[in-house]
Amino acid sequence: MHDDPLPMAADQSLIEAVAAIRRGGLVGMPTETVYGLAADALNPAAVVRIFEAKGRPRFDPLIVHIADADWAWQIAEPSPRARKLAAACWPGPLTLVLKRQAIVPDIVTSGLDTVGVRCPDHFVARALIRTCGTPLAAPSANTFGRISPTTADHVREQLGERVDVVLDGGPCRVGIESTVLLPDPVPTILRPGGVTRERLEEILGEPVAVAGRSERASHLPQQAPGMLASHYAPRKPLTLRAPGEPWPTDPTVGVLAFREAPALPHVEVLSRSGDPAEAAMHLFACLRRLDASSAVRLMAELVPDAGLGLGINDRLRRAAGLG
Ligand code: TXA
Ligand code: MG
Repeated sequence: MHDDPLPMAADQSLIEAVAAIRRGGLVGMPTETVYGLAADALNPAAVVRIFEAKGRPRFDPLIVHIADADWAWQIAEPSPRARKLAAACWPGPLTLVLKRQAIVPDIVTSGLDTVGVRCPDHFVARALIRTCGTPLAAPSANTFGRISPTTADHVREQLGERVDVVLDGGPCRVGIESTVLLPDPVPTILRPGGVTRERLEEILGEPVAVAGRSERASHLPQQAPGMLASHYAPRKPLTLRAPGEPWPTDPTVGVLAFREAPALPHVEVLSRSGDPAEAAMHLFACLRRLDASSAVRLMAELVPDAGLGLGINDRLRRAAGLG
């Protein structure tokens, strides 16, 4: 798409990652949301390897990552809302689901006539994409249905040899995945995430529906497959604490609390100051630690259901298998 030469001073791991992408391989790519498992989006054989490495069903379409907003219209058709949102939110944790251009292979979109496009707000991701000169298809770099990775180690632990190179960009700043938005004909959030509904409404100056929550979403042809009821799941059984319900006293229960936790041996607190952004950043790592602990079952509490809380609670409900 753009044939930039490798930067002279490129880090060795970046050079290896670019080489891996160019020969149709897979790269663990840091982004501001979670780590992605990236391949050349325009190379169908490379994209097939993503589905195989994750054990992901082929009906679940991938997001195409671009280095700059102006790449978007080579892959997808612009609309007035799409242009407005791209200008306001990219680079950033927003995926726009738009009519696709013919250049996008069927395997990326699961045969849909739309494609999810996003420009990640991470220096390493954009350097990788720009140097490869091609958009990169990337789902979260976890095995299908499991907890999303927010560090390079998480990627290595889950995918091991199945990924050619893992680029270490440090822990992810946002911590939950991008918001997936269908801007037309009615702006609808298919998956709540790093950009809040409130912010989208402010940018567009109109209401934004949330799929599964509003009759306005009834025009949807199908839900985003990432909306499966069980997803982001730990191996141990996880239940949600009902509002007002006392915390358990059983020491074999691992607790995921928002601000304050009971005195139990296995406890993780998302944000002592009650900051939703901090809570989102810690969410998946806390779940992983509890899953790796000697707790027998897990209990989590929901956070206030506004702003980033929408995305956090969506992940907690799905981690508990409740959709
Ligand atoms: O933050 C993120 O979005 C991360 C990082 C790596 O960019 N990626 C990510 O990808 O979460 P994945 O594959 O785990 O989730 C992508 C979601 C899925 O729910 C998928 O169904 C939805 O986006 N999606 C992708 N293309 C779509 C399309 N054309 N129509 C509807 N939903 C789509
Ligand atoms: Mg995922």
